[in-house]
Amino acid sequence: MAVTGPPSPATPTPTPTVTPQETAPIGNPIFARIRIANSSDVPHLHKLMYQHAASQRLTHIFSSTESSLSATLFNSPPFQSFTVFLLEVSPTPFPDGPVGCHPPITRIVNLDLPIVDPELKEFASGGEAVVVGFVLFFPNYGLFLGKTGFYIEGLYVRECYRKKGFGKMLLSAVAAQAVKMGHGKLDWCVLGWNANAFGFYKKMGAQVFEEVKMCRLTSDALQACESFS
Ligand SMILES: CC(C)(COP(=O)(O)OP(=O)(O)OC[C@H]1O[C@@H](n2cnc3c(N)ncnc32)[C@H](O)[C@@H]1OP(=O)(O)O)[C@@H](O)C(=O)NCCC(=O)NCCS
Repeated sequence: MAVTGPPSPATPTPTPTVTPQETAPIGNPIFARIRIANSSDVPHLHKLMYQHAASQRLTHIFSSTESSLSATLFNSPPFQSFTVFLLEVSPTPFPDGPVGCHPPITRIVNLDLPIVDPELKEFASGGEAVVVGFVLFFPNYGLFLGKTGFYIEGLYVRECYRKKGFGKMLLSAVAAQAVKMGHGKLDWCVLGWNANAFGFYKKMGAQVFEEVKMCRLTSDALQACESFS
């Protein structure tokens, strides 16, 4: 009589192997770069600054021109005075450029959906790159802290690029430079109604001083004050 052995064990279910496709980023990757702006960026900067004024409901006081920007920015080495970081994105990697005092910061951002940019042509900046936003800052001093810092005069991300991490990337670039230079603070002002900006800044960990109000002397009042002495 034939002896039947124990039933052969069931064929084990093969462990699924992870294919490179499954580990590759899903979604829509885009290359982002932050670099120091220069005088050739003035036309883009001027448009961004006007849009920023519109976002703050302040176009009625916007009198900056491309000439005034060219005359007043880029006259000092970066970080010693007014400095602008420009953020660009591209569907293809940015070419390596000359590395100056601040090598560009690059990231790959994986988007859920591709961005439809209605101003692609106006903000094209060479190759497939497009300008997305900026941050303008300069050194200041906190006498109560006895610490140097940066004051952020403007931070702006074009509307169709918001809520994708680009504002954070710009603010973080300024924070990284501040830390690198041994600064102890970053300051900026926010209009009281700008709940969107407060939401963003609180998320970034900023402290809000509710009791502080900003003061300014311009035009006639500035002239008048000058004559008091
Ligand atoms: C404020 C501004 C720069 C933010 O840029 P952004 O690219 O939309 O912000 P990000 O996508 O980088 O957001 C970073 C984080 O803040 C959060 N955040 C952004 N806006 C927020 C809001 N309104 N409320 C709560 N959280 C917010 C994001 O969810 C994100 O959180 P995470 O890191 O956990 O993912 C942008 O909205 C803007 O340019 N606004 C118009 C100009 C302006 O008001 N500038 C500030 C003037 S003081």
